[in-house]
Amino acid sequence: QSGTHVPVLVIGTGYGGSVAALRLAQAGVDVQMVEMGMAWDTPGADGKIFANTTNPDARSYWLRTKTKQPLSNFLGFPIDRDIPRYTGILDAEEFAGIIVYQGRGVGGGSLVNGGMAVTPKRENFGAILPTVNADEMYNTYYPRANAELGVGLVDPAWFDTVDCYQYARVGRKQAQRSGFPFVFVPDVYDWDYMKQEAAGTVPKSAVAGEILYGNNYGKKSLQKTYIPKLMATGRVTISPLHKVTSVSPASGGGYTVLIDQLNTTGDVTTTKSVTADRVFFAAGSVGTSKLLTMLKATGKLPNLSNEIGKGWGDNGNVMVGRANWWWDATGAVQASIPCGGIDNWAAGGAFAEVAPLPTGIETYASFYLSITKNPNRAEFSWNPTTSKVDLSWQTAWKQPSIDMAKTIFDKINATEATIYRTDLFGVNKTWGDHLTYHPLGGAVLNRATDNYGRLLGYPGLYAIDGSLIPGNTSVNPFVTITALAERNIEKIIATDL
Ligand code: FDA
Repeated sequence: QSGTHVPVLVIGTGYGGSVAALRLAQAGVDVQMVEMGMAWDTPGADGKIFANTTNPDARSYWLRTKTKQPLSNFLGFPIDRDIPRYTGILDAEEFAGIIVYQGRGVGGGSLVNGGMAVTPKRENFGAILPTVNADEMYNTYYPRANAELGVGLVDPAWFDTVDCYQYARVGRKQAQRSGFPFVFVPDVYDWDYMKQEAAGTVPKSAVAGEILYGNNYGKKSLQKTYIPKLMATGRVTISPLHKVTSVSPASGGGYTVLIDQLNTTGDVTTTKSVTADRVFFAAGSVGTSKLLTMLKATGKLPNLSNEIGKGWGDNGNVMVGRANWWWDATGAVQASIPCGGIDNWAAGGAFAEVAPLPTGIETYASFYLSITKNPNRAEFSWNPTTSKVDLSWQTAWKQPSIDMAKTIFDKINATEATIYRTDLFGVNKTWGDHLTYHPLGGAVLNRATDNYGRLLGYPGLYAIDGSLIPGNTSVNPFVTITALAERNIEKIIATDL
């Protein structure tokens, strides 16, 4: 409602925003959440809320007329197709040197991600968030985040026998034959449900290949965890298809927030103005960084720190496929939820998930998403000519990631006498070095903010999402984003309200 005054406005409904809203509401504060994406609570014509990965449609992409699939080619042929322009669930946001994939909708990235819920090894934590007390994180906030998110592990005995994880067993065998440790990776997928899917007793989701464009059944996205819990407080309102475009000090105190209401083709139907005593930026690393960089440069929030926009990294993401011999078939049916990885972080700077390639046919391919210790960091800046925010990342900056991933896969190829696939990311292209799923940084903790996410220069403004983390978490990031948000909001509630 335009003209309204609210105590707290939260921009974004991903991990950071959901933690903030829940804890504030439990402390008795009324919260307005604003989300640019859709609610994703209504089935389409096919009776399903979300589209399948193998058959993208309007629901699949944020305001595109053609799909932008992470694997653009198969056997040399481009596989992207035309779709109607719609406020779909996956945004493939293109900057000059990198495509950043992000979730759009109530639940943010939890709607589209693989659900891999990994707590970093404690010995690596000092490099991830150097100014955060590790004892507090590992004794209190990581356990809290894992419990709220419903993190669980695949049953190893079931894993050993089921068809849909043949690809992961091949990945394990080959890792071990080359002397690398294979580890099970926890996930928020409902593993009991997956057992029933594989047995054919319930509607299939992961076993039918659902992942990138949402899971209709088994995944415990934020829609099944934090969001129902925060709605049950009765103190939180969520406005989907509303996009924040400006935050600036209000004359009577607090902040004026300008919000565009969108229709499902992305046009602005109304612009609203709301006043808020406090504003939490939880628009994700890219969303929060873009807003803050623009607001500082255009004079709306000129006193923000010069650290705004800096310290952005891609979590070292790089993808690759390998071609196996015929005796190492990876299976026509592959569960879309990865459950294992190859840990060569300490020796080679790479942690590689054994990822599915859910094409529905036998491909004899092994596919991996590696998280690497890539040291490169980029910066967001305001471009007055285009009135857009640019990101300085260059494609060549992925080379350290490729080198680190090769510490694993060159060795496996040598042991197995196999080669890389060159048909998945283009014609004759081995490495998927054009994208990230794990944007991190841009409003780094204890640099652009204080040590709890309070934005320097403006009391009552906070960052509480992946933008706080300086570029790398050594594993998949959302458990760390959630745990850090739990830590910060506890302090903010205790001292600022
Ligand atoms: P998040 O991006 O979740 O939420 C931000 C929200 O703000 C979005 O809903 C967005 O629409 C909204 N927003 C942005 N700008 C706005 C504005 N101006 N106004 C209103 N709303 C706005 N991680 C992991 O740990 N394990 C995994 O398996 C995977 N797998 C994976 C797969 C894919 C395909 C993707 C895209 C990502 C992953 N990730 C992942 C990454 C993970 O999903 C990501 O790190 C978190 O969702 C980030 O959480 P945040 O709270 O920072 O923002």
